[in-house]
Amino acid sequence: MSEGILLSAVARGTLLPDYVRVERLAEAIPQMRAVLEGETDAVAIQATLACLLYETFAQANWCGFYRRIAPSMLAVGPYQGTMGCLRIDFARGVCGAAARTRKVQRVDDVHAFPGHIACDDRTRSELVVPVVVAGELHAVLDLDATDVGGFCQGEADLLVKLVNDVFGAPGITF
Ligand code: SME
Repeated sequence: MSEGILLSAVARGTLLPDYVRVERLAEAIPQMRAVLEGETDAVAIQATLACLLYETFAQANWCGFYRRIAPSMLAVGPYQGTMGCLRIDFARGVCGAAARTRKVQRVDDVHAFPGHIACDDRTRSELVVPVVVAGELHAVLDLDATDVGGFCQGEADLLVKLVNDVFGAPGITF
């Protein structure tokens, strides 16, 4: 059992096979939805998701949110892992690309991504999901891993649905 939700214990830094990770995430998501049921405060949701997704993604060295605080600027929000950069301009990095394009960024090797911001030198792959509600970009969900190819398309697809459902629920205040 992990803290917060019921999942098999996996050591931090373990990259399970793709299909096992997708199954693990699919098992965790209903538990996350149950925990978040009725919560409308976006920061409370972000903090809880950062915690529970970090438990779920054993391969992650960072998991959390950057919030939009100005037209083209993100500031770090609730997260778990090693220290993150405090501010990210939309023009920079993988998070900036997700915020600018509003498209999921799944980067197998960050060394091959022009302008990648190395908050933690050990990070090798990254997955960033934009949080867009009613046409407005409010935040991005960022996950980093120390392995090349740390995130698969199945994980990205499940996270997109989770983020859209949870933050798109009626009455969420950002
Ligand atoms: N690597 C990211 C910056 C955020 S941190 O890694 C937590 C990027 O290029 O956007």
